[in-house]
Amino acid sequence: MKVYQSFILILILAILCALQSTAFSQQRKRADAAETGITDRDRKRDEWQRPAEVLEALDVKPGHRVADIGCGSGYFSFHLAARVGKEGKVYAVDIDPEAIKKVQSRKERENLKQVEPILGESADPHLPNDLDAVLIVDTYHEFREFDQTMQAVLRALKPGGRLVLIDGEGPTGRPRTEYHRLHTIPAELVREEVSKNGFVYKESRPGFFDEEYGKQMYFLIFEKPHS
Ligand SMILES: C[S@@+](CC[C@H](N)C(=O)[O-])C[C@H]1O[C@@H](n2cnc3c(N)ncnc32)[C@H](O)[C@@H]1O
Repeated sequence: MKVYQSFILILILAILCALQSTAFSQQRKRADAAETGITDRDRKRDEWQRPAEVLEALDVKPGHRVADIGCGSGYFSFHLAARVGKEGKVYAVDIDPEAIKKVQSRKERENLKQVEPILGESADPHLPNDLDAVLIVDTYHEFREFDQTMQAVLRALKPGGRLVLIDGEGPTGRPRTEYHRLHTIPAELVREEVSKNGFVYKESRPGFFDEEYGKQMYFLIFEKPHS
């Protein structure tokens, strides 16, 4: 009986230790993310989101002025900031003030003067002119006034400037407003709408699979025509 009781006691202690260590590690990750602005998801994302390839598709170079529309907490904005360097500019646009606050904090923490957070409006990203490239990741499906937003992007881009659009593949033939709720949108519909707004479709590259959300994403490249 005594052996049995000791065994149960050891088992309970082992479970308590394991639970405490998991809670401690989660607490440490949260504290780390609060301090650096870089989450565990961001680190995992570096493996499947292929940021170097996305920057290459945008043709971003040191000194360029680029925009990340729907920047969220700035996963791509900070990759772009490293590429454009101190002489360049990254306009990190979002309509959510909390997202803008996060980007502002990380910019200050890392002393990255080239990052400029912009609080946009649903139909107007408040972009400056003469941009070299624009990136829209997992955000196009959210646009309510997509025609107005894309017209503003077109005006802001230099002729020949690239637009890279990454989003989740969605079911075809649904009412347009349903895609906001689904958080996905068919690539075919995006190509059609973006082309109608004056961009030239260039190519589609191999997409991405976001395991955490089980989302298959496409990778489209457009350009602003020269005339
Ligand atoms: C799913 S998050 C993607 C964030 C980021 N692009 C990324 O890949 O990590 C979508 C973001 O788009 C923003 N958003 C929605 N509608 C927008 C609009 N019209 N203009 C700019 N940002 C918008 C949301 O506030 C949210 O931060």
